Amino acid sequence: MKELILGIESSCDETAAAVYCPEKGILSNPLFSQIHMHKEYGGVVPELAARAHIEKINFIVSQALEQAGVTLNDITTIAVTSKPGLSGSLLIGTCFAKGIAGATGKKIIAVNHLEGHAFSACIENNIPFPFICLTASGGHTSMYYITDWGKYEPFSTTRDDAAGEAFDKISKLLNLGYPGGPIIEKRAAQENFVDYFKYPRSTSKTLDFSFSGLKTAVLYDLVNRGAYDLKTRTLLDTSEDLKNKVSSSLLVCIADIFEQKLKMALKKYPECKAFSFVGGVACNKYIRNQLKNFAEKNKISFFVPAPQYCTDNGAMIAFVGNYKAQQQKFNDLTFEIL
Ligand code: KG4
Ligand code: ZN
Repeated sequence: MKELILGIESSCDETAAAVYCPEKGILSNPLFSQIHMHKEYGGVVPELAARAHIEKINFIVSQALEQAGVTLNDITTIAVTSKPGLSGSLLIGTCFAKGIAGATGKKIIAVNHLEGHAFSACIENNIPFPFICLTASGGHTSMYYITDWGKYEPFSTTRDDAAGEAFDKISKLLNLGYPGGPIIEKRAAQENFVDYFKYPRSTSKTLDFSFSGLKTAVLYDLVNRGAYDLKTRTLLDTSEDLKNKVSSSLLVCIADIFEQKLKMALKKYPECKAFSFVGGVACNKYIRNQLKNFAEKNKISFFVPAPQYCTDNGAMIAFVGNYKAQQQKFNDLTFEIL
């Protein structure tokens, strides 16, 4: 029987669903983003996220089926994100998926959200194995050595904050809004990506990332310039000029850190044929460009997903669900979240 996969993603602040057909690819990929709800808090509020998933999930799944021109009857397998993520949010997606599977007898597959990101560049590209994937989002910064469908080894992660979190927190420090990445990118472009303040790059010899030190370095650089008051936690210099210069320096610094770590990763895996850059931060055109040039210099192919497959989405979950279905890796209804 031919597979038709429904993917469901609700691990954080996006309620997303997609339909994947092995012959035709992604047929639909709608989502409801909760960013506007969390904006005023400067980050995701778990309880609000879970409630919004409950309100939207039925609508988004129906939309995914409708846009794909299919009905629930046509779906053979439901793939759903089971971990990692916010527990309240994960419960909504998994309970919804289990409910459908239980009621209809359809097969179900629990998908790791990070495996979804790790293979997201494969949705539209034929990437040769083995390849290295750098995942950078608001919650994660990791590298994987990927040798086959579903076979991946994490070999680097962040010891503290994720790269996207660094953008978000520094954006908050500058009163620029949430999510910080796109705002900082826009401001950095206005400065032509000049590295004014030369924030510290990583001095660590390990492959792991650390972004919390960078956030502190930016804070103390502002304090030393008399632009930030630590006691009252207020930005004293609110000029556009300063905000743009910090944005530009920060973006260049983070791109450099990625390049530094990739250089080390290539030494660890010299047989690697390609490199992919995925997750919300991979929407950043400046970083994409820098890493593309780096890959070219090292004579390996470089892949990034289309922006709709970089940020959280149902397509990557349905895509992983498809190869797991081919491998007969189905779950029963008792699988846990987290
Ligand atoms: O993958 P994603 O949508 O959600 C998580 O799983 O976290 O990633 C969201 C993160 C946020 O931290 C956001 O600031 C960052 O991705 N981001 C960007 C850009 N667009 C989104 N960071 C840098 N440049 C961008 N253009
Ligand atoms: Zn994600």
